[in-house]
Amino acid sequence: MRAMTVTPGKSDSARVGEVSEPPETDGSVLVTGLLTGICGTDIELVSGAFGSGRAGSDHLVIGHESLGRVLDAPVGSGFAAGDLVAGVVRRPDPEPCPACARGEWDFCRNGRYTERGIKEMDGYGAEQWRVDPYFAVPVPAALGLLGVLVEPASILTKAWEQVDRVGARSWYGPEQVLVTGAGPIGLLAALIASQRGYGVHVLDRIEDGPKPELVRALGGTYLTDLRELDVVPDVVIEATGVGQLVFDCAELLPPAGVICLAGIHPGPASVDVRLDALVRQLVVRNAALVGTVNAGKRHYADAVDVLLAADRTWLERLVTRTVPLSDWPSALVREPDDIKVVVDLQG
Ligand code: BGC
Repeated sequence: MRAMTVTPGKSDSARVGEVSEPPETDGSVLVTGLLTGICGTDIELVSGAFGSGRAGSDHLVIGHESLGRVLDAPVGSGFAAGDLVAGVVRRPDPEPCPACARGEWDFCRNGRYTERGIKEMDGYGAEQWRVDPYFAVPVPAALGLLGVLVEPASILTKAWEQVDRVGARSWYGPEQVLVTGAGPIGLLAALIASQRGYGVHVLDRIEDGPKPELVRALGGTYLTDLRELDVVPDVVIEATGVGQLVFDCAELLPPAGVICLAGIHPGPASVDVRLDALVRQLVVRNAALVGTVNAGKRHYADAVDVLLAADRTWLERLVTRTVPLSDWPSALVREPDDIKVVVDLQG
């Protein structure tokens, strides 16, 4: 069968590969792959910057943002032929560490976790894949192909949970939220902020294309310069990973403000910052910077709820390009109005 393959550690190795049928050890639920989303992690995998294949394999099937239709599932698995399904990315480490042992693989302590399509496990970018029912997320038929957004949305439901938990150190009632970066992660962060009734402000370098209108459709303001921000943000969701911007946002935080770092930048970049002054400011304001990666099972379920509650037309506008599997490497080449590019695994 055909799959999206790369050779880990080797740049420009993205291929339409021929691979064997998914092994039963991947799980008892057999799935027809429908769509997989492309994100910055895939671009880094293809650059050879990181990623690793299954033991003994010289290639890796990538694709961790998944949507498929169940072909076959055992009775009692909770799934039946025809159901839409998305797969969880991470698997607990084999030890397991205390966090993985209680299902918090997104907080794995020893780094020996594995990830579908990223680290030591083949991903979901194939005509067929298998998944263990425990790591399969039911996608309501009402979401249809928008179910491909469940994994990226899970990154944000986890991020918002982190913000809430840090916020709950003291009285917590955020009103204004700044999101930096209007890619899929930033826009989904803004969607959740608007669903919660917060004032939404999104910063991005891009001045035209679909992004400004998508932010305005959420009732938010779209900024291309941080100096245009006319409120004090109680929460910042930082989705660019650009060091200078993180420092600039940290300076804006009010007492007990929270910045959640949800993105990384390929870098390396160096910035001159008045670090002592910044430390003083964070300390005297009880401000917090918290990083977040990956998602646990409940965050996927929360992501489904967020997407179901969203305006369908708005979500459809996030998916700006669909590329057939036969030409999937072209999904890696950025086009000006791209937000989320997806690969049609039957195309
Ligand atoms: C994925 C996460 C994963 C991370 C690091 C992200 O793109 O969404 O699930 O943990 O990459 O590998």
